[in-house]
Amino acid sequence: MKQKLLVANVSDIDRRGSRKLKVGDVDIAIFRMTDGSILAVENKCPHKGGQLSEGMVCGTAVHCPLHDWKIDLRNGRVHEPDEGCVKTFPTEIDEQNGAIYVTV
Ligand code: FES
Repeated sequence: MKQKLLVANVSDIDRRGSRKLKVGDVDIAIFRMTDGSILAVENKCPHKGGQLSEGMVCGTAVHCPLHDWKIDLRNGRVHEPDEGCVKTFPTEIDEQNGAIYVTV
């Protein structure tokens, strides 16, 4: 069953910064992009499980901190020449108070 969870406030996350959280047994990384949008993906690199929340955001991708695979945060796809995909989660920002919701 899907749940919409209040996870943070935009003021808690710097641009190009991230937060991590755990919902049940799923680890999630939440990123604030340079344009202010919020994107959420599974916090586990498809290569060898690096924590993407520790990676550097560049454009719309995060660079895995372990071996520098690049993962597009909009669709979870790994950039070529590497292959793979991480799960993405829908996000919403309440424009009134900056609350961030993730649907898991
Ligand atoms: S674990 Fe992410 S690139 Fe190797």
